[in-house]
Amino acid sequence: MIISKVMAQFVTLLIFLLLIFRYSIAADTLIPNQLLRDGQTLVSAKETFALGFFSPGRSKNRYVGIWYNKLPGGQTTTVVWVANRSSPLSGTNGSLELNGNGTLTINSMVFLPMSSVTLDNPVALLLDDGNFVIREANSSEFAWQSFDYPTDTLLSGMKLGWDLRTGLNRNLTSWRSKDDPSPGSYVLSIDLEGISQANLWSGSTKKWRSGPWTDGVKFSNLEEMPLPYNLRFGFVDNKDEVYYMYNTTGTKLVCRMLLDQSGMTKHFVWIESTGMWNINLFMNYPVNQCQEYSRCGSYGVCAIDVWPICRCLQGFKPKSPQEWPIMDVSFSCERLTALDCKNRSDGFMTVTLASLPETSNAILYPNISQNECRGRCLKNCMCTGYATANISGAGNGCIIWVTELIDLRMSSHPTQDIFVRLAAADLAPMSNKSSKKNQFKSVVLIIVFSMVALIIPLIYSSWGKKKMIHKDIRGNGEFELAQLQWSTLMEATYNFAKTNILGKGGFGLVYKGKLADGHEIAIKRLSKNSTQGIDEFENEVTFIAKLQHRNLVRLLGYCIKGDEKILVYEYMPNGSLDAFLFDNEKKDHLDWQTRFHIIEGIARGLLYLHQDSRLRIIHRDLKASNILLNIEMNPKISDFGLARNFGDHETMIRTRKVIGTYGYMALEYALDGVFSMKSDVFSFGVLILEIISGQRNRVFLSNPHLYLLGKAWRLCNDGKVLDLLDPLIRNSFSATQVMRCINIGLLCVQEKLEDRPIMSSVVIMLAANDDAPLLQPKELGFKAIFSTKHDAASNQNELHSFNDITITEQTCR
Ligand SMILES: *[C@@H]1O[C@H](CO)[C@@H](O)[C@H](O)[C@H]1NC(C)=O
Ligand SMILES: *[C@@H]1O[C@H](CO)[C@@H](O)[C@H](O)[C@H]1NC(C)=O
Ligand SMILES: *[C@@H]1O[C@H](CO)[C@@H](O)[C@H](O)[C@H]1NC(C)=O
Repeated sequence: MIISKVMAQFVTLLIFLLLIFRYSIAADTLIPNQLLRDGQTLVSAKETFALGFFSPGRSKNRYVGIWYNKLPGGQTTTVVWVANRSSPLSGTNGSLELNGNGTLTINSMVFLPMSSVTLDNPVALLLDDGNFVIREANSSEFAWQSFDYPTDTLLSGMKLGWDLRTGLNRNLTSWRSKDDPSPGSYVLSIDLEGISQANLWSGSTKKWRSGPWTDGVKFSNLEEMPLPYNLRFGFVDNKDEVYYMYNTTGTKLVCRMLLDQSGMTKHFVWIESTGMWNINLFMNYPVNQCQEYSRCGSYGVCAIDVWPICRCLQGFKPKSPQEWPIMDVSFSCERLTALDCKNRSDGFMTVTLASLPETSNAILYPNISQNECRGRCLKNCMCTGYATANISGAGNGCIIWVTELIDLRMSSHPTQDIFVRLAAADLAPMSNKSSKKNQFKSVVLIIVFSMVALIIPLIYSSWGKKKMIHKDIRGNGEFELAQLQWSTLMEATYNFAKTNILGKGGFGLVYKGKLADGHEIAIKRLSKNSTQGIDEFENEVTFIAKLQHRNLVRLLGYCIKGDEKILVYEYMPNGSLDAFLFDNEKKDHLDWQTRFHIIEGIARGLLYLHQDSRLRIIHRDLKASNILLNIEMNPKISDFGLARNFGDHETMIRTRKVIGTYGYMALEYALDGVFSMKSDVFSFGVLILEIISGQRNRVFLSNPHLYLLGKAWRLCNDGKVLDLLDPLIRNSFSATQVMRCINIGLLCVQEKLEDRPIMSSVVIMLAANDDAPLLQPKELGFKAIFSTKHDAASNQNELHSFNDITITEQTCR
């Protein structure tokens, strides 16, 4: 009796234990012949990371991976390693096993290169840094570690690069899509050719390169190591190992570096207080065109802030004259005069660039003087140039190039001197060395100034005599914004015919024009009697000429003749967004995919203005009529007449003259004249809601139901957010995407500046998985807005009280 009772209890206990055991292995260790089944996880000692089976995104496939254990959504959004990325399982009956000899198998299949050494008493352990390791139970040396087989993520302490002793090459490979971790288009690797550097590859095409690690602090092609945090970055280059690594030890930072599906490498830092990842780009590819590998070909220099962005070094000419304005598509340069090695008559021109040209074919001589370096270059008939630089592993080295110089880049603060070999004939105009350097600099300065100064015809005409200014619109790669002839523009617009008028821009009429060769252009003509206009014209020229981004409208050239001041832009066949969005017939063309694409594009353009361009710019007049659409419905932000740039330390500017557009204006700007990036973010939020609803946000009407923000908030609060959707797209949309966009829109229009996200967060939120967590917007400040009467800019614009909106809950679901 007693025995059977004890037995029964024992069996119950056993079943209970088995049940617990089935759903979690609450340990960090796997021992031989113990199965980790689908549904169970290994958790590292401090519970930072977990390892187990998961399905990414919408996929139903099962993978074994490692993710952040404690962060919200960890399993779905922050997988940092995948074991079987190319060989998923289809059901949930998978298991991971450590075999007695120390190999790991999933459903009895070995899934990664494992050590060929057989272990006697192996254990597999998930460590708190995210490393999954196999070792002898009584040893601290790893026989195998997941850190040696990175997927798309580099964690603190992981090495990106080579162990030359074993031939192990660790690189990052993007996922194919959010739902598919199999190897995607991009690989970030450390390559050993010439002088070691990091390269981004898409198949066999090099997309970007980091340049060598110089001065012991950074890759030469990065403006600066991007993180404002206390991280340590390092590059090791010796006979045993070549790798890049960053380190968070000694800090509490949770940080990961990710190569995403679009080829962007980003550093993510977890911000506890916001519950979100803060993101910094590791490189500017593909945001900045000049970062595209060899964008301007051999001996072509890329400068992001002038147009065209490519031109030839002194002593070189474009290889094939190309049609304006597409001339910079595949640009390349060749020598004016061939080198003459035998006669020893060649010399050098100094140019100061942002970074070293491509070094994969360059030769590094450690510790020799600049003079010696020059001598070696002259003696070598293949040598095309030399430079000195403090390269990792080589000390103060000299670099000699024996191939064409490629991937040359100019910046606002160039620091790297390159000595380019030229034939005597091409050096002749500049006899001594220092004036050569200054001359190159002055050429660059002239470009920059010529754009600022083209509103001052006097200065312009004195420069016009110099050879630098090029009269023909078919520029040949010279150094400035194209100047167009008045007669060309008259011809292109049939003498500024009324029928060619496209609309009215910030400071004058905009005409459509067609050049003799068929290229269509948009021509903005400053009204002669506009005084405001001159400021705005100047503003437009100063800013937009220096900006280059696929989501900003592009300035192609200008013309000044007498009182006439004209700017010429790329022509946007689809006109402005408002003409589509608020037109009952045309908006039929805007399905949800297109609308989402437009939202994303505007976000990227604005991010570039705020954070990524050299000037940091607040647009101040972002609205649907200032978003132009090209033939593919790609959005481009236009009209920089009111834009302001702000210094690095300046975050807010106060103005007495509140100009802009009501309906898009943030409260603090409308009421107090304070504007900042966050007031642009507000306008962007309004735009999102307009794009989704197909309705204008009207503020100053007495009918509160027309106030779009109020309506959005109310619907969101009532859990009926999809009612905001334009009825025309009710059968073409993704509900989760729409809801996310509305959520993001409402975050952007929050009353407090500090609650609104910055644009980089917006871009990330837009790109994230559907189920990635979003912050909930706080209650909008309607009461504050609508009980205040004020006359910030115009007395007609009275704010009406708005009492019938009653908000009961603090958050919107
Ligand atoms: C280890 O054991 C597994 C499963 O028994 C086997 O497939 C594998 O070949 C073995 N590896 C070595 C190195 O012996
Ligand atoms: C990336 O690493 C894998 C594994 O070592 C290697 O086969 C592949 O060639 C590497 N790719 C690049 C571009 O270095
Ligand atoms: C090299 O020098 C010789 C003799 O001075 C001259 O005839 C020849 O044209 C020179 N070659 C070049 C390419 O300048």
